[in-house]
Amino acid sequence: MAVSYKELGFVNTQEMFKKAMEGGYAVPAYNFNNLEQLQAIINGCGRSRSALILQVSKGARNYANPILLRNMGKGAVEMARELAYDIPIALHLDHGDSYGLCVSCIESGFSSVMIDGSHLPYEENVTLTKKVVGYAHKHDVSVEGELGVLSGIEDDVQAARSVYTQPEEAEHFIEKTGVDSLAISIGTSHGAYKFKPDQCTRNKEGVLVPPPLRFDILEEIERRIPRFPIVLHGASSVLPKYVDLINNNGGVLEAAVGVPEDQLRRAAKSAVCKINVDSDGRLVVTAMIRKIFSENPAEFDPRKYLGPARDELMNMIIEKNKKVLGSAGRY
Ligand code: G3H
Ligand code: 13P
Ligand code: ZN
Repeated sequence: MAVSYKELGFVNTQEMFKKAMEGGYAVPAYNFNNLEQLQAIINGCGRSRSALILQVSKGARNYANPILLRNMGKGAVEMARELAYDIPIALHLDHGDSYGLCVSCIESGFSSVMIDGSHLPYEENVTLTKKVVGYAHKHDVSVEGELGVLSGIEDDVQAARSVYTQPEEAEHFIEKTGVDSLAISIGTSHGAYKFKPDQCTRNKEGVLVPPPLRFDILEEIERRIPRFPIVLHGASSVLPKYVDLINNNGGVLEAAVGVPEDQLRRAAKSAVCKINVDSDGRLVVTAMIRKIFSENPAEFDPRKYLGPARDELMNMIIEKNKKVLGSAGRY
């Protein structure tokens, strides 16, 4: 039986993007796959008084079961109310790859869906996105499209190199499809290896510094389509603190480089209204679990290693909302 997101207590992204655009900040979109990530995200955004987009990928649905995930989302909204977190929460499908998947999510209570046709020929992307918008808007659900290709690894999609979004195509795409927001490619990519070391320079602490994002493309898109909500995928910073903790406790992450926080801060002040973060959360959790196992190899109560991992993830989210996205303290 179909259920509306309104019955579950979610909101679509319309109002939160309007407020983010006016306030010069970006709403965080955090991916979750399990209970501890969800607790950290709700408490992190609740305590920092930030709007929240809870993201579920196709891979997350396969991992955790779609019915369970949706009910976890519903439970999270109830928990937020109980704890008096007065923040809007959207439940969003990340990288939806078909019309059927988007419809299934909308019917099961998602308030926002992404249809990622970025790997299709342009006209096919337009046709598919328009079809999803037609269905979603009948249910008051927001739709995110994507134009341009991010390099890196997504769930079922692998792109060897990025193809930057063309501003004139973006203008045409938005007009033809009626999407509510658009993910663009300006140099970010998914995962922990966003830039090759030979693309980077080293700062005086020896940390790899990647080339800047293509703000010229972003500005041209803003000029052509003023006040239209833009989305940045692949926006984790790959914080050296957690990469080091992993490597110092038996892990092997070589030359992992993310998007510098000052670049994201600049983007968040522009038409970028949504910033996607998954890898940073994965790194925090892995770093904490590795540290705890190194320090106490006899530990076998999951609460003793998942609990601290969850708490550190919450703290990372609070810091990111405050210092990078600027979404903290708005509700
Ligand atoms: O962009 C992809 C997200 O990080 C989701 O990753 O498909 O492995 O769940 P996943
Ligand atoms: P990161 O891999 O940089 O966290 O990006 C996540 C993302 O774009 C989810 O859609
Ligand atoms: Zn993404």
